[in-house]
Amino acid sequence: MTITHPSFGTVADDRVIIFDTTLRDGEQSPGFSMNLEEKIRMAKALEELGVDVIEAGFPVASPGDFESVQKIAETVREAVVCGLARSGGKRDIEAAGEAIARAPRRRIHNFISTSPLHMKYKLRMEPETVLDLIAEGNKASRHFTDDVQWSAEDGSRTEPDFLCRCVETAIRHGATTINIPDTVGFTTPDELQAIFTMLRERVPGAEKVIFSTHNHNDLGLGVANTLAAVAGGARQIECTINGIGERAGNAALEEIVMAIRTRRDKIPFQNRIETPRLLGISRLLANITGFDVQPNKAIVGRNAFAHESGIHQDGILKNAATYEIMTPESVGWSKTSLVLGKHSGRAAFRDKLKALGYDLPDDKIQDAFERFKVLADQKKTVFDDDIRALVDDETRDHDR
Ligand code: KIV
Ligand code: ZN
Repeated sequence: MTITHPSFGTVADDRVIIFDTTLRDGEQSPGFSMNLEEKIRMAKALEELGVDVIEAGFPVASPGDFESVQKIAETVREAVVCGLARSGGKRDIEAAGEAIARAPRRRIHNFISTSPLHMKYKLRMEPETVLDLIAEGNKASRHFTDDVQWSAEDGSRTEPDFLCRCVETAIRHGATTINIPDTVGFTTPDELQAIFTMLRERVPGAEKVIFSTHNHNDLGLGVANTLAAVAGGARQIECTINGIGERAGNAALEEIVMAIRTRRDKIPFQNRIETPRLLGISRLLANITGFDVQPNKAIVGRNAFAHESGIHQDGILKNAATYEIMTPESVGWSKTSLVLGKHSGRAAFRDKLKALGYDLPDDKIQDAFERFKVLADQKKTVFDDDIRALVDDETRDHDR
């Protein structure tokens, strides 16, 4: 059944909403906090990237958080601007409502823990109290906006019957998006898919709301869990640029979006992300936070489209599809990089010489290649200048 949503109108069955939480959950990773100006730059870049919802912060958390959500709400025109609040926390909801007020499209995101462990030790609340706070929080949020999201913190470790009651209460009291986070990254993909399927089958009113998935990466399963949740009926994906977030981080936006683009055959969903902007926004975030992504990071790591071994380089030179499942240009890189190292072969070496402007006969190429192999055994990276020096020496030796 097609859903009508207060911010998105009629949502096509094959649409997934991309909810970015880099500025809220992402910023919660130790050492990653951003100042106001940096957050505005990120918010503008996220809007240009095409995300549907920008979770801008947790307004009650600090005056600085309030101000940055407010400024983002004044700046962003297209995307929905979202502020986080604890369910039932009157001050939280008022702060969130005020902070997002100037955004043309705005959302309040309420959350409360629902797992036995969190209710007993963290909240020290009875389940019935949690249900009351869910109802109160959503009702209060509706005074500020029709677009209300409710999240079951630690939802994936919540007892199923109680989770159904929480979700039903949230919907009855005005939530239009229901998020079931895997808060501690514990759940496996099949389990998460089953949770979404169960909720959609069992909860009255489930057909009127958008289900959302929010996955942490403690076991490295964030992206796999996100795709499994979509298979179970989730139609909003919560993620962060470069996968930053609490502890091991959140599911990475760039990985999810490219998994959907690359495997349309298995994951037939649409989103609005302009994928050639992915590398740029990844670098912007790395510059702002001072944390580079690891070289082997999918999509945006510096080795994501780099090939060193001779067999792979030879394949790439014949047909890039042999070792690349998407084009580098499609995610913002200018080209594939054939890195010369001890595993490289003649084909890549010859290609590099051509790119550096050398036109040498075969025997000279062979001599230079042999010298290159000796050098590559001694050096981690062979730079263009090393190759130039090697060929120029070779030419001089022969001219003597
Ligand atoms: O991981 C989590 O449960 C959260 C909620 C606040 C949505 O970030
Ligand atoms: Zn989270």
